[in-house]
Amino acid sequence: MSYNLLQGKKGIIFGALDEKSIAWKTAMKCYDEGASLVLSNAPVALRMGEINKLAEAVKAPVIGADVVNMDDLKNLFEKSLEHFGGKIDFVLHSIGMSLNVRKGKHYTEMNYEWNQKTLDISAMSLHRVLRTAWDMDAFNEWASVVALTYIAAQRVFPDYNEMADAKALLESVTRSFGYHYGVKKKVRINTISQSPTRTTAGSGVKGFDGFISYAEKMSPLGNATAEDCAGYCAVMFSDLTRMVTMQNLFHDGGFSFTGVTADVINQMEK
Ligand SMILES: NC(=O)c1ccc[n+]([C@@H]2O[C@H](COP(=O)([O-])OP(=O)(O)OC[C@H]3O[C@@H](n4cnc5c(N)ncnc54)[C@H](O)[C@@H]3O)[C@@H](O)[C@H]2O)c1
Repeated sequence: MSYNLLQGKKGIIFGALDEKSIAWKTAMKCYDEGASLVLSNAPVALRMGEINKLAEAVKAPVIGADVVNMDDLKNLFEKSLEHFGGKIDFVLHSIGMSLNVRKGKHYTEMNYEWNQKTLDISAMSLHRVLRTAWDMDAFNEWASVVALTYIAAQRVFPDYNEMADAKALLESVTRSFGYHYGVKKKVRINTISQSPTRTTAGSGVKGFDGFISYAEKMSPLGNATAEDCAGYCAVMFSDLTRMVTMQNLFHDGGFSFTGVTADVINQMEK
């Protein structure tokens, strides 16, 4: 069902790798709600070719950009402005990558060069995207930027490894840039803190199966799906949430404020 929430709005969606991706579902939802889109991902991800199916479905061009390369980002924004014939109303930052997790390094034995890359790709990239838009004055007033995060930024989930630090930094950039962009142009910037979700990035976390069923049992509403997250992103891009900025918004079926549930107690008593 569509509410035409994004009729006439123009947005860039980063991070649709395959149809499990939260960015993929969000692109579909934004399109259904009336938005015009540009899709972007790292050149290596584009080579997989999956994104072309999405591009066809949402009638959007695909413009490659490695999110830590400022020339790529400038090119992406220039081409997007040209494609839309006007400024941009929303951006989804749905990007995460941990080299230490990928290479099986324990948090206590982290390789710091890899860690720099992780922090750059997963967190400072939001600053890079915002800075590019800022320098080019690419956003309309009241534009809305959403980045996806995880509760490991606030609480310890040991196997989330260095990504916990990356998410804490991402949430901090959201607040800091959110202040400056709010003052300059009423642009709003928020993070959505999503339940564990079966995607390529999600499944890379060690012990993911146990982790996702634990979260399911610890959430009064159960885990939020990628489709649910897409709906929340669309609302955050709409004019209905104009005064929300610099927030970390939990989208997790109540997990973040639950101490324990009957399900978990029953499990412990077995
Ligand atoms: N899946 C979960 O359990 C979960 C939970 C909370 C938050 N998140 C966050 O949601 C976001 C999207 O992840 P997802 O779960 O949909 O997985 P995903 O693997 O589908 O998406 C991650 C994306 O990041 C892109 N990316 C990596 N390096 C890049 C680079 N240098 N330049 C441009 N793009 C790059 C990948 O190509 C991919 O499209 C991430 O920020 C992730 O941390 C995921």
